[in-house]
Amino acid sequence: MTGGDLNRPEPIRRHHARPVDGNTPPRLAAKRLRDGEVQIVTDLYKTGAEILAQLQELLPALPQGADYATRQEHRRTGREAAMRLLAPIRDHCLDLQDARTIGFLELLYPGLRRFSLPFVRVQELYGAWTRYEEGVHLAVLGHRVHPFYGTYAPTRTVHLELFATWLSQYEGARTRAVDVGTGCGVLALMLGKARFEQVYATDDNPNAIESLAQELKRRTDAWPVSLSVCDLLGEGGPPMDLIVFNPPWMRGQAESLVERALLFQDGLFERFFEQASRRLAPEGRVVMLFSNIMELVQPDEPHPIQTELDRGRFRLVQRLRRKVKPAPDETGRVRRTRERVEVWELALAKG
Ligand SMILES: C[S@@+](CC[C@H](N)C(=O)[O-])C[C@H]1O[C@@H](n2cnc3c(N)ncnc32)[C@H](O)[C@@H]1O
Repeated sequence: MTGGDLNRPEPIRRHHARPVDGNTPPRLAAKRLRDGEVQIVTDLYKTGAEILAQLQELLPALPQGADYATRQEHRRTGREAAMRLLAPIRDHCLDLQDARTIGFLELLYPGLRRFSLPFVRVQELYGAWTRYEEGVHLAVLGHRVHPFYGTYAPTRTVHLELFATWLSQYEGARTRAVDVGTGCGVLALMLGKARFEQVYATDDNPNAIESLAQELKRRTDAWPVSLSVCDLLGEGGPPMDLIVFNPPWMRGQAESLVERALLFQDGLFERFFEQASRRLAPEGRVVMLFSNIMELVQPDEPHPIQTELDRGRFRLVQRLRRKVKPAPDETGRVRRTRERVEVWELALAKG
C-alpha cells in the first residue's frame, strides 16, 4: 500500500496562520488558540510543546467525578483548540531546528514535499514512530509486534491470555480461521501458531492490514495470513471453522483512528452476526473477546452479544471470564475495578 491509500493526518497545503516562535509568550499564543486563531510554529519543537502545555492549563478543569460523556466533550473542546497550532513539514521532516526523526512522514506522504500538519498530529506521529520502531512485547506471542501508524495495539493483555486459554482447549477443525478486525495482527498470529491451515485477517482500517503485512515480512516463523481491507468478514469466501473477533467494547462516536478501534456504532454487531451466520461452517465457532465494561459504564445500552443470542440464530457454548488487574489511575492511585474480560464461544443454533 502507498501513503495515499493509508489513513494519515490530512496535510494542510495552504493556510493564513500567524507565525509563532520562542519570542511569543506561550500563554499569549495559547490564549489566541483558545480564542480561535490559527498559528504556526517556526523555530523549535519545544515552542509548540510549551504552547500546548499552556493551552491545557487555560482550559476549564474537568468537574470531579465527571461522567464519560462529559469527559469526551471536555477532550473535544481542548482538541479543537490544539488543532489550530500548526507545524511545518519539508522534505519528509519536521521543519523545526530541534526536530527528531519521524519516519512515517516519508511513508505516509511520499510525494508531498511541503505542507503543514496540526502540531498535535505531529506529536502523535512521533509517538507512533517510537512505538513502531521499539515494538510492543506481547507475551502471548513471545515476541514484539510493531504497530504501524493508526493501528490499534493492546496496552493490556489479560483478554489475550484468556483467549490463549480458550484456544489451547479448542478441539474443532483447523482448516480455516479468520481474525476479524485484526489491528496489529495479534490474534491472527496466535491462530497461525495454533496451526490453522489457512488464516485470514481483515480490517476496515488499511493501516492495520499494512501493519500485519509488515509484521509477516519481518518474521520468518510466521504462518502465512491472507489479508484484506474490508468491512468485517467481507463479501463471500469459504466457510470458516473459527471466526474470531475482538470488537470495540463500548458504544460511542469515534473521533480518532484509535477510538475507532474502541468504540462501535449502530449496526456493527448486527452486520457481523449476519455475515458470521452465513460464513460459519456447520460445526464452526464464533469466538468474541469482550468485557463487561459496557455494562458498567453504559448500563442502559443493550448488550450486543446477548441481543444476538436472544434472536436464536446462535447458541452460547461457553463464556469464560477473568478479572482485570487493578491499574494505577492518572494520580498514581491503584483503584479496584469490577471490570472482567470475557471470551464468548458461540455456535450456530442448528449446528
Ligand atoms: C479492539 S480492536 C482489536 C484489534 C486486534 N484484533 C486485537 O485483538 O488486538 C478492533 C479492531 O477492529 C477493527 N474494526 C472496527 N470496525 C471494523 C469493521 N467494520 N470492519 C473491519 N474491522 C473493523 C478496528 O480497526 C480495530 O483494528
